[in-house]
Amino acid sequence: MYPEKVRIVEVGPRDGLQNESKSLSIETKLELVNRLTGAGLRYIEVGSFVSPKWVPQMAGSEEIFSQLPRNNTNTYAALTPNMRGLERAIDCGVSEVAVFAAASEEFSQKNINCSIAESLKRFEPVMEKSLGLDMSVRGYVSCVLGCPYQGAVDPNKVLNVAKDLLKMGCYEISLGDTIGVGTPADTEKLLEVLLDEIPSTKLAVHMHDTFGQALANVLMSLQKGITVVDSAVAGLGGCPYAKGASGNLATEDLVYMLNGLGVEHGVNLPKLIAAGDYICEKLDRLNSSKVRHALV
Ligand code: HMG
Ligand code: MG
Repeated sequence: MYPEKVRIVEVGPRDGLQNESKSLSIETKLELVNRLTGAGLRYIEVGSFVSPKWVPQMAGSEEIFSQLPRNNTNTYAALTPNMRGLERAIDCGVSEVAVFAAASEEFSQKNINCSIAESLKRFEPVMEKSLGLDMSVRGYVSCVLGCPYQGAVDPNKVLNVAKDLLKMGCYEISLGDTIGVGTPADTEKLLEVLLDEIPSTKLAVHMHDTFGQALANVLMSLQKGITVVDSAVAGLGGCPYAKGASGNLATEDLVYMLNGLGVEHGVNLPKLIAAGDYICEKLDRLNSSKVRHALV
């Protein structure tokens, strides 16, 4: 009923820190990433090469990537919305990138200043160049369970964008409930539509926790055969262009649930909690993980 093993994609340093008003030093961001790998997380989204005018919090991403240890154990990934972003990523030795599209036209305009079709067109050269350099590319589809501007989103729209990104060469599509509105019933409905045409091994889920549904949505996804889950240490996160969106599912809470289900994940919970507390102290904010508060 549940997978034997789940791969956790830690998005705290990117999705988390892009949404925080307090700016942090490069040393602090690096220390966070190193603490996360020290806790056993093997895939970390470290930053993004977007316009610094749009998201100033991600402006120092080059410096972080160029100081990360190089090894084959960990994957350090970055968001790249266009060729300019990809060139920046290549220049500092990034080996894996992600392109991000949406299932909602209005969100696409607000987030990346173009229509969905235009964004896919923009990703074509990004895909071509990355794949030519043997860089893996992950794809995101945002607003899969609802949009802050247009409300309901048709699962068939999500399906079409996901299929387009796969066809272009993304190895996996992360389904983003960007504003955390979906319930397990919505998640089930969406996955039923997608899994009719896309194998579960090509899908991941990325649940924000605005309405407290993220863990339940992940549980539903695991029952449907999904084995890759995005989450953020301390429940950090949000999108500056999705009003009202709160943090991602806290990685600590995900790990606790997976432990209870007997699903392998490779993360040391006490070390993860320490990493979450470290960054919350630097940000001067409360840790949003319930498990952290129950255990410490
Ligand atoms: P634009 O203004 O349409 O682009 O922005 P442009 O090509 O006209 O360029 C405008 C200016 O930005 C120019 O500079 C460019 O050089 C510069 P100027 O001439 O004005 O000085 N520029 C860049 N600079 C650095 N790096 C670049 C870059 N590209 C252009 N890569 C653009 C289009 C996509 C760049 C902009 O809209 C943007 O940066 N958006 C990013 C928004 C973002 O990062 N959102 C958060 C991440 S998505 C998310 O959180 C959702 C997710 O978590 C999943 C989920 O939860 O659903 C992934
Ligand atoms: Mg997100």
